[in-house]
Amino acid sequence: MSRFLLPLLASLPLAASAQDGGQLFATYCAACHGANGEGAMNGQFPPLSGSPWPLGNPDRAIKIVLHGLQGPVEVNGRTWNLEMPPQGAALPDEHIAAILTYVRSSWGNKADAVTPDRVKSIRAALANRSESWKAPEILKLHPLEVTPPLSDLISYVYDGTWKNPPDFTTLKPVATEEEHKGLISLKKVGKKDHFGVVWEGGLSLPADGDYEFLFDADDGGRLILDGKTLAEVKGIGPIDSRAVQVSEKSTKGPHKLRVEYYEFEGQEEIRVAWRKNGAPGWTWLSDAKSGGSAKKWPDIPIEATAGRTAIYRNFIKGTTARGIGFGFPGGVNLAWSADHLQPELIWTGKFMDGGHHWTDRGQGAEPPAGENVVALSSTETMPKDARFKGYKLDPKGNPTFSMTIGSQRLLDSWKPGTLQGKPALVRTLTLVGQGNPLSLTLSDKAPVALVSGSDYTLGSTTLLHLDAGKIETQGSSAILKLTPGQPVTVTYGWK
Ligand code: HEC
Repeated sequence: MSRFLLPLLASLPLAASAQDGGQLFATYCAACHGANGEGAMNGQFPPLSGSPWPLGNPDRAIKIVLHGLQGPVEVNGRTWNLEMPPQGAALPDEHIAAILTYVRSSWGNKADAVTPDRVKSIRAALANRSESWKAPEILKLHPLEVTPPLSDLISYVYDGTWKNPPDFTTLKPVATEEEHKGLISLKKVGKKDHFGVVWEGGLSLPADGDYEFLFDADDGGRLILDGKTLAEVKGIGPIDSRAVQVSEKSTKGPHKLRVEYYEFEGQEEIRVAWRKNGAPGWTWLSDAKSGGSAKKWPDIPIEATAGRTAIYRNFIKGTTARGIGFGFPGGVNLAWSADHLQPELIWTGKFMDGGHHWTDRGQGAEPPAGENVVALSSTETMPKDARFKGYKLDPKGNPTFSMTIGSQRLLDSWKPGTLQGKPALVRTLTLVGQGNPLSLTLSDKAPVALVSGSDYTLGSTTLLHLDAGKIETQGSSAILKLTPGQPVTVTYGWK
């Protein structure tokens, strides 16, 4: 995983005029850390938004930018094991200061500015250093300062016996406390049974967009964002039995979060978390991880075994309800939509984690477990009269999807192969029957560009090779013309 964008970075001009931190960030950091600091390429790179690393004492981030970072590093509960190349030679002190000042004051961050002098003195003090930092080494020098997940958090404790969420607004609390750690916790409440707690605090979201919230309580309660009830757990029961996961569109910046909780008798626990839609991990607002695992289900990796392609027939995030997953030997994977009659996602590495659906009876959609996920399309691109006629598996478990389009039949076969010496997906398209050629959309999401001859790039990580014909682009769509009786093989490889 050392596919760095150094040539690209080196070719960019030094924006030497104004020290516009946002502009410099876009130029020097966004390729890996994402335009909004969310971690580029679906979180293959670690995020800066929500990360404690650039906050607090700025020396830690200054040193990382100057000399790079390599080896395992944990950000928000997830571990990356990559290499960030040093940026010190490319960036003068003023630019590093401007970028870090921007990072420290964006996406809800409120840390103070970084001065060029501070960068200058660290650069001078470490003039002889050439090796990259490792996380344990730099954390020893500059431990992370943990910022509270909820700001100005206050808890209100109530006495009462409830088997359903009461209207707490009409009740009088028996205790009120400031929670300086900003974490929803039952540890200090000091009551066993027959009580309620309400927490109110500020939640800062990093960007406009879709979010997911997770709420679970033993016995019950409500999750309320800006006065709107997002989730409710009613009745009496253990944790995990009634967990609610909801999506909500929200805006960048501060929001008011209110969490209501009641405990009847027995065990007690509360779990609250959020994440950007599709983000790999939850940001926990409760300390409940100590009471149970953050993930409610065990890892059950599904993978090709003994040279046979694995199949996954449950909801896959990023495709439609009737998406079917195939994990081929060699670590190349496909999600094909039987609603849209086309491939929608391809990726490398791990196929799917079956634990969620096998132990949780299929709530929600599971994202691909691997890397380099490429979204090919998510809209219908086939002709209106196209009909799905099912699929067949060959003895190795490789699928051929079958469709009719008017009086013609289209066969779409997939098997593993190689492209430029690396594992690849080999797709053979065969149009059978009299009629016109078919304009087939290969992708309308990831852009396709000709490299030379019959080789193309697809998005930033993928390669396409055709054994016949050529791809035409129409707007953002890459179109392959299929002539009846003349099969075309398209190979999808990774750089
Ligand atoms: C070529 C890709 C790349 C570029 C460009 C890059 N980084 Fe990184 N950065 C990484 C990787 C990869 C890691 C994790 C390294 C590891 O696994 O040890 C990282 C880690 C970090 C971390 C610590 C972990 C975290 O997520 O908070 C900070 C802070 C950071 N980078 C800041 C920056 C800033 C600021 C810039 C722009 C000046 C920048 N990086 C440019 C790839 C990059």
